[in-house]
Amino acid sequence: MTKAKIIGLGSYFPKKVLTNKDLEKMVDTTDEWIVTRTGINERRIADENEFTSDMAYEASKNALEDAKIKAEDIDLILVATLTPDYIFPSTACLVQNKLQANNAAAIDIQAACSGYVYALSFAKSLVEQKVYKNVLIVASEKLSSITDYQDRSTCILFGDAASACVVSLNGKGLEIESVYLGADGKMSDLLILPAGGCKKPATLDTVKNKEHFLKMDGKEVYKHAVRRMGEATKKCLEMANLHESDISWLVPHQANERIIDAIAKRFTHLPKEKVYKEVVYKFGNTSASSVGIALDLLKKGNKLKKDEYILLSVFGAGFTFGGCILKNLG
Ligand SMILES: CC(C)(COP(=O)(O)OP(=O)(O)OC[C@H]1O[C@@H](n2cnc3c(N)ncnc32)[C@H](O)[C@@H]1OP(=O)(O)O)[C@@H](O)C(=O)NCCC(=O)NCCS
Repeated sequence: MTKAKIIGLGSYFPKKVLTNKDLEKMVDTTDEWIVTRTGINERRIADENEFTSDMAYEASKNALEDAKIKAEDIDLILVATLTPDYIFPSTACLVQNKLQANNAAAIDIQAACSGYVYALSFAKSLVEQKVYKNVLIVASEKLSSITDYQDRSTCILFGDAASACVVSLNGKGLEIESVYLGADGKMSDLLILPAGGCKKPATLDTVKNKEHFLKMDGKEVYKHAVRRMGEATKKCLEMANLHESDISWLVPHQANERIIDAIAKRFTHLPKEKVYKEVVYKFGNTSASSVGIALDLLKKGNKLKKDEYILLSVFGAGFTFGGCILKNLG
């Protein structure tokens, strides 16, 4: 069977840079603490009037241009985000309108930081079964809108950005060899936005108690992230009938350099520079957007050689996790 491919990639970064030095003036932290514990140097913050759908639109335009197809050729838009413009309508519908992708169905996917890989799984199946021809995946996050900039344990981690790709049967690009998805709903309390849903609609109390900001048990999340991302890499290697040593590039979710290093331990043959970390250094944790940005920068940096395998590994709130193996067709 012909396999689905990523035929175009794009990303978008807001202009405003928030450095560790800036954060030193906002909370009781230091550049040294942040770099040592996370690897993050700076992150981007969207403008007050710049929203998830706007960043998604910019990243989508870049991906469509890279794929050399028009918006009207897209027949499905999947938007992965945990910071939608609204609870409803979906951000995917807003993006469909901005792009004038009038022939496309549109739906949001909420799998937190694993959203891009979840979307790749759905796009692969739908394209290979010939339900849709060209699927646009967009991951976009305005995490600054749910971050408490008085909470030093979380505000140092997150940033805003978007990434996008076009998945199709035709054309060249990155062939999708295997995708593994997993979830563990027992752990949903460890990383959560407590209020704003139907269980706790906005009230004066929820605002006063800062329940519209994300809450995280960092230590526990860290342990689960390492374990689940490790499992996911193993599962998608098995699904593709490949071995660790076949992988040329490891692109884990860009949340924390130490988590990435822990995942990389399994890949003893890989030189340091083939474990991708540039995104966590420069943009922090951009949730669903993270691996898509890494892929875009990796491809456009002309670093990928023909027939190389790239392994994506992701983890997020829910918990959700997953892995994906891509082959560069050149
Ligand atoms: C958040 C994280 C960086 C914290 O690192 P850690 O080594 O676990 O640090 P701890 O939470 O144990 O905190 C150690 C100390 O540093 C303090 N601290 C926390 N944030 C700090 C900051 N920004 N600056 C300085 N000190 C800080 C803590 O208060 C604690 O002080 P104490 O020992 O006096 O109580 C780490 O747990 C992590 O990366 N977790 C995973 C987060 C993640 O990636 N989430 C998204 C998954 S998709």
